[in-house]
Amino acid sequence: MTPHTEAGPPAAVAGAGSTDFFVIGTDTGVGKTFVSCALLHVLAQRHARVCGMKPVASGAVRTADGWLSDDALALRACSTVSVPAALDNPILLPEPVSPAIAADHAHVEIDIEFLAQTYRRLRARADAVVVEGAGGFHVPLNDRHTGADLAVAMGLPVVLVVGLRLGCLNHALLTAECVKARGLRLAGWVANHVDPDFLFADENVAWLARHLDAPCWAELPYDPTVDPVAASRRFAAMLVA
Ligand SMILES: Nc1ncnc2c1ncn2[C@@H]1O[C@H](COP(=O)(O)OP(=O)(O)OP(=O)(O)O)[C@@H](O)[C@H]1O
Ligand SMILES: [Mg+2]
Repeated sequence: MTPHTEAGPPAAVAGAGSTDFFVIGTDTGVGKTFVSCALLHVLAQRHARVCGMKPVASGAVRTADGWLSDDALALRACSTVSVPAALDNPILLPEPVSPAIAADHAHVEIDIEFLAQTYRRLRARADAVVVEGAGGFHVPLNDRHTGADLAVAMGLPVVLVVGLRLGCLNHALLTAECVKARGLRLAGWVANHVDPDFLFADENVAWLARHLDAPCWAELPYDPTVDPVAASRRFAAMLVA
């Protein structure tokens, strides 16, 4: 496995003028939280107040502090500023299913303008913000909007996490094309080895490097650590390498 550091050293990640990013993935479960946490660590090297945001989380876990989103918890653990949950995770839906369906079950209307406004309120309290999208880029949020509309409403540069598994080339191209069609900037992408049995992973990464119109910020190895906070610290070092 060859780390792809030539295209986008992390000095570029945090230093190219962008302090805020919207992290999307080729699908759900591809490592968006791991990468968002790693980005927070990188940004924290340059900014005093960094904060993660999970605008819409579906699936709550029981904690000593009540029902919370495990993604929001991981992002908080990697943030250097603490904000009310209403700012960093304004919508938490109990059912671990697609957000539009989870919202229906919870009788919640997901309003993307409200979420964009919440991001701006959060931004007033932080120097750098990493927003983790839900699911894949076109995950439905309601009958009219998907995650793509939310990214547009926030207007942030996008980071694409490619979960390296069978089908990822198609998903990566579709997503990158959609990002471009929406007028958003694909700032970079991360190749994430989520499947240790994926055949010819190197060839897939090389193919993506040739066809995605953005720098590869890192190629993250398969890491069986389940804790995203611990794993993201190692990943951050790779982003900086
Ligand atoms: N590099 C990796 N090596 C091994 N396992 C990984 C790696 N990255 C992610 N995973 C595994 O994949 C799972 C999904 O990762 P993660 O929660 O970051 O995905 P996600 O894209 O944020 O998912 P969601 O859509 O639910 O927010 C994690 O529980 C973790 O176990
Ligand atoms: Mg996540």
